[in-house]
Amino acid sequence: MADTGANTQVNLIKAGLEDAVVSTSEICFIDGHKGRLLYRGIDVDDLVAHSTFEEVIYLLWHGHLPTRKELDAHVKALSATANRRLAPKIISILRLFPKKTTPMEILRTGVSALSAFDPEAGDNSREATLRKSLRLTAQMPTLVAAWERIRRGKPPVAPNPKLTLAGNFLYMLSGKKPTPLATRTFDVALILHADHEFNASTFAARVTAATLSDLHSGVVSGIGALKGPLHGGANEQVMLMVEKIKDPARAEGWIKKAIADKVRLMGFGHRVYRVEDPRAKHLRRLATELGEQIHNMSYVEILNTIAQVVTAEKHIYPNVDLFSGAAYAAMGIATDQFTPIFAMSRVAGWAAHVLEQHGNNRLIRPRSEYTGATDARYVPISER
Ligand code: ACO
Repeated sequence: MADTGANTQVNLIKAGLEDAVVSTSEICFIDGHKGRLLYRGIDVDDLVAHSTFEEVIYLLWHGHLPTRKELDAHVKALSATANRRLAPKIISILRLFPKKTTPMEILRTGVSALSAFDPEAGDNSREATLRKSLRLTAQMPTLVAAWERIRRGKPPVAPNPKLTLAGNFLYMLSGKKPTPLATRTFDVALILHADHEFNASTFAARVTAATLSDLHSGVVSGIGALKGPLHGGANEQVMLMVEKIKDPARAEGWIKKAIADKVRLMGFGHRVYRVEDPRAKHLRRLATELGEQIHNMSYVEILNTIAQVVTAEKHIYPNVDLFSGAAYAAMGIATDQFTPIFAMSRVAGWAAHVLEQHGNNRLIRPRSEYTGATDARYVPISER
C-alpha cells in the first residue's frame, strides 16, 4: 500500500461506503431489519395515515409538528402565487431547450437557474435558507409542470393558490382539477419520498453544503445524484420494464428469464433494508386503488407477479420505486416525469439536511486508498 501522506494506516471500509456512519443526524431513522422509517421520530406509516406533505415539510425543517397557527402560515406561504410562480425569464429559458430534453435535465438546469432569480441566493443564514427552501419547494412543481406543457406545445398553467402542493401540481400538468383520490395519492407519494437518511442524493447535497455552498447548489447536487437508475431513476426504469412485458400473462416467464440472465432488477433491493421497504406497501395500495378507478389493473398485476417471483427466488424485496410509477401512470403522468416528481418531494429532505449540515458544519473530505504508481517518470511527448 502506498504511503498516502496524511495517514499511513488507511481504515479500509466496504465499497460504496456500506455501513459507514459519516455523521450524526436528527432528521431520519431507518431500521433496515424491521422495515421501519421515521421522520423526526414519527413513523412514516402514521404520517401517511394522518398528515399531509405540507405538514411533513414543516416537521423535517423545524424538527417538530406545527401548531395550527404555524401550519396555517406555512401552508399559506407554500401555496402563495408569489412563491410558486416562475419568473417569466425562466419560462423563456425553458422555451429555448430542444423538446427532447428530458424532464430531469430541465429540473437540474432549472433549479440552478432559479438561484439567479432568488433574492437571497448567497445568504446561508438559517433564516434565509429556510425561506429559500420554501420558495424552491414551491417552485419545483411549477417548473416540472411548465416543461411538460412546453414540450407538448401547450402554454404553462398558472399555479392555483387554493390547491395543495399535490393538487396544484396535477392541476398545472393537465389544466384540470384532479380527483380527490388522485390528489390524496399524490400527496401520500410526496410524504413517502420526502426523506431517507444518508441516501446518495442527500449525501451529495450535504457534501456540497459542507463546503459552505448554498441551498440551490446542494439541491442541484442532489438532483444530479437522484437521476441515476440505481437511485431515483429506478422508478422510470421499472415502468419501461412493465411496458416491455405488456401483458400480465407474460410477467412470470419474463422475470424468470431476467433472473436467469442475471439482469439488475429495477425497483428491487436496497442498501439498508433487508426486508420490504416500508414505503412500498403504501404505493402498492395506492397504485391498486387508482388502477381500479381507471379499470386498468395490468400494471399492478405485472408488478405483483414480478414481486412474488423476485422475492421467492432472489430474496430481494421491493423498494420505493417499484409501485410509484404505476400510480403516476394511472394519473396519466409521463414516465420520464417520475424521477422529477421524486425530486419535488425529496427537496424537503435535501433542504432539511442542508440546514442541519450548516448548523454544525465541518468540511466533508474523505481519503482514498491510493493504489496507483508512486514512481512514474514524466516522459517528454517527443519520447512517447
Ligand atoms: N437485481 C438483481 N440483483 C440485485 C439487486 C437487483 N435489484 N439488488 C441487489 N442485488 C444483488 C446483487 O447482484 C448482489 O449479489 P451478489 O452479492 O451475488 O453479487 C447483491 O444483491 C448485493 O447487491 P449490491 O449491488 O452490491 O447492493 P447495493 O447495496 O450496492 O445496491 C441497490 C443497492 C443499488 C439499490 C441495488 O439493490 C439495485 O441496483 N437495485 C435496483 C435499482 C433500484 O431499484 N434502485 C432504487 C433504490 S431505492 C432509492 O434509491 C430510492
